[in-house]
Amino acid sequence: HAADAHRTDLMTITRFVLNEQTKHPESRGDFSILLSHIVLGCKFVCTAVNKAGLAKLLGLAGETNVQGEDQKKLDVLSNEVFIKALVSSGRTSILVSEEDEEATFVEPAKRGKYCVVFDPLDGSSNIDCGVSIGTIFGIYMIKDGHEPTLDDVLQPGKNMLAAGYCMYGSSCTLVLSTGSGVNGFTLDPSLGEFILTHPDIKIPKKGKIYSVNEGNAKNWDGPTTKYVQSCKYPTDGSSPKSLRYIGSMVADVHRTLLYGGIFLYPGDKKSPNGKLRVLYEVFPMSFLMEQAGGQAFTGKQRALDLVPEKIHERAPIFLGSYDDVEEIKNLYAAEE
Ligand code: AHG
Ligand code: MN
Ligand code: MN
Ligand code: MN
Repeated sequence: HAADAHRTDLMTITRFVLNEQTKHPESRGDFSILLSHIVLGCKFVCTAVNKAGLAKLLGLAGETNVQGEDQKKLDVLSNEVFIKALVSSGRTSILVSEEDEEATFVEPAKRGKYCVVFDPLDGSSNIDCGVSIGTIFGIYMIKDGHEPTLDDVLQPGKNMLAAGYCMYGSSCTLVLSTGSGVNGFTLDPSLGEFILTHPDIKIPKKGKIYSVNEGNAKNWDGPTTKYVQSCKYPTDGSSPKSLRYIGSMVADVHRTLLYGGIFLYPGDKKSPNGKLRVLYEVFPMSFLMEQAGGQAFTGKQRALDLVPEKIHERAPIFLGSYDDVEEIKNLYAAEE
């Protein structure tokens, strides 16, 4: 029976990626080793998040980060765990984290051919009230054998080899793409393994949900205002869309990926580049959306074509179901 096959033919994320790697004979398992260290970090954060309330891990760390945000204890803890795990993998040369002002250049003895950009804990404003939060990551190959520089990470998102997120919610779900589709894995705590539960995720071509912080409506530009208006008061006779906004990008994107619809963090008069950071929020989620058959747009261009100049730069983002994003693109094109 299929159920029995599942029970005995465990498709763990490690096995899945090794299978994938057979398509890249040149990589001698380096990517699998890197990924296993990212998975280790996710398992640690999952445990820490699940017992945060008990282990006095809630609340502020008393520091602020380069974003000007108060760092939560779990922000700092998760960041340290991922930095240490990635350095010890011996497969990375440069690390960029939301929580560190400067990039981490790995010491020569431990250098590898990958650069990892990551948001160790996304949605941290939701930690203390128990709402789902997550980790987001993207992986680049360093450009070539020279001394690593920031240019190795200031690459357009389309150059990413892989991207993914781990969501710490009712279950711990890791969604990953290595460039040939999107797959979801759920942590089986009794095994301590991520098991393939969502093979070959495809986002519905059109959705019935829009996801945006309506509290910023006063400052939106014309096209965003028109689009949200069309979600509430459709002029083509279709029924209005539902609004779902959690305020954790990982949770909002995961729902969008599985149910369809559109997630928006637009630019506005106050913050023309919006809030979300290009390298470790916009790019990984845009990469996943395109791999799942959706699309991602900044208001000016395809998100993955953007070439970042600073490691913490921000960009507006509209991502999700192909047809829904197409409507936004038409409204911005009409504006030009
Ligand atoms: P982080 O917690 O990593 O700083 O990211 C928070 C982001 C993202 O998770 C979410 O989509 C967005 O902040 C919500 O912003 P608003 O509260 O302004 O809507
Ligand atoms: Mn933050
Ligand atoms: Mn974030
Ligand atoms: Mn964060």
